Amino acid sequence: MTFDIITLFPKMFDSPFSEGIVGQAVGAKKINLSFWNPRDYTSDKHKSVDDRPFGGGDGMVMLPEILKRVLSDIKGKNQPKKRRVVYLSPQGALLNQKKAKYLAENFDQIVLLCGRYGGIDERIIQTEVDEEISVGDYILSGGELGAMVLIDTVARFIPGVLGNEVSPLEESFKDNLLEHPLYTRPREFEGRGVPEVLLSGNHSKILEWRKEQSILRTLEKRPDLLRESTVTDEEMTQVAERSSLRKNVAIGLVHYPVYNKTGEVVATNVTNFDIHDISRAARTYGVDQYYVITPAEEQLAFVGRVLDHWQKGRGHQYNPSRTDSLINTQLATSVEAALESWGAKGCHLVATSARQVVGPKLIGYNDLRVLAIREPVFILFGTGYGIENSMVRQCEYLLEPIKGRAADGFRHLSVRSAVSIILDRLFGSCY
Ligand SMILES: C[S@@+](CC[C@H](N)C(=O)[O-])C[C@H]1O[C@@H](n2cnc3c(N)ncnc32)[C@H](O)[C@@H]1O
Repeated sequence: MTFDIITLFPKMFDSPFSEGIVGQAVGAKKINLSFWNPRDYTSDKHKSVDDRPFGGGDGMVMLPEILKRVLSDIKGKNQPKKRRVVYLSPQGALLNQKKAKYLAENFDQIVLLCGRYGGIDERIIQTEVDEEISVGDYILSGGELGAMVLIDTVARFIPGVLGNEVSPLEESFKDNLLEHPLYTRPREFEGRGVPEVLLSGNHSKILEWRKEQSILRTLEKRPDLLRESTVTDEEMTQVAERSSLRKNVAIGLVHYPVYNKTGEVVATNVTNFDIHDISRAARTYGVDQYYVITPAEEQLAFVGRVLDHWQKGRGHQYNPSRTDSLINTQLATSVEAALESWGAKGCHLVATSARQVVGPKLIGYNDLRVLAIREPVFILFGTGYGIENSMVRQCEYLLEPIKGRAADGFRHLSVRSAVSIILDRLFGSCY
């Protein structure tokens, strides 16, 4: 593999590539690095490579003729090759392991164009560049550091660059999972041991443990990756059950204290829809318990009758799947009673609201998902015009509201819809 690097600062590459795996690969001629300095292609006495942007503004722009000359020279000297011209740019697709593997496997010449100043003339991107690649959502002063990152990660996929050829495929991002935790000697370090299974010598149990840890870590740290992994639903369910994932979540539907449309604090009526539809959503997303919370005796009696009908009575005989959807649905007279009934010690209480309420810490969906993987979380949903403020303030967290997309700001979801959307955002996308 040849990397042709177009840079105004070729010396920047000396130190990073004089040692380590890439250094050895260069020494062993597994990869070849060639540098092309645009300054060498100038014809004026100042050796200018840039000029002011048309339309004004900060930052000089690298001249198209100079870059074209460099690129023509590279292309002219290297025929025929499976070549890819890459412009390192914050506007490109983010570099990842899949892209590195693709580049290593499909090309034998990668031209890396390192911009400087405000960037390069757009017409070079349009006519000469095959793709733009970014190394992160931040601005670097030049493409050189990005090019180094790209060379390092692509080189690892080139046969013979790593001593052990299978290892790049056994690291994080294999099948879109992060790697399991690693341990070495001593067996005990500052009072912390090593998981027993790793000392057992039982290879299949070790593999099973590592796979499970990989899935768990990915869920915790990068749930977005799981969407494209081939982890099966069965594997996910197994890991979820063993790690008590999802069983760590209970939800409560608060009928008191909530606001009515004039801002008074009231108790609302329980609706049949809310009992059934929220039970079904809760069961579908593996929520441990769903509490219908109301202090009103006649409402408690009503919910009790509905639950009895479907859990034990004629409804059960008529439609057993309804019974199944209601097995985790319970009644509670208050939020405190629901928390006590659930019994999860040290659980985090999270309010949901369409309004901003000062007090609890605002938490996003990713953070709440990560929290719920390890610790119990009780999420409260309000009926009427939302949970009363002092109740919200008793919660540790306030979940980011669902914003919707309506141009006029309309966002009056039924609580049933809100529960489903929130459960899906928390647990639907990652497994
Ligand atoms: C200061 S930046 C120019 C940024 C440009 N004005 C913009 O806002 O998109 C100068 C050069 O650094 C490189 N660069 C900056 N950030 C980068 C990133 N995140 N990934 C890859 N290259 C980057 C590009 O080659 C770019 O031409």
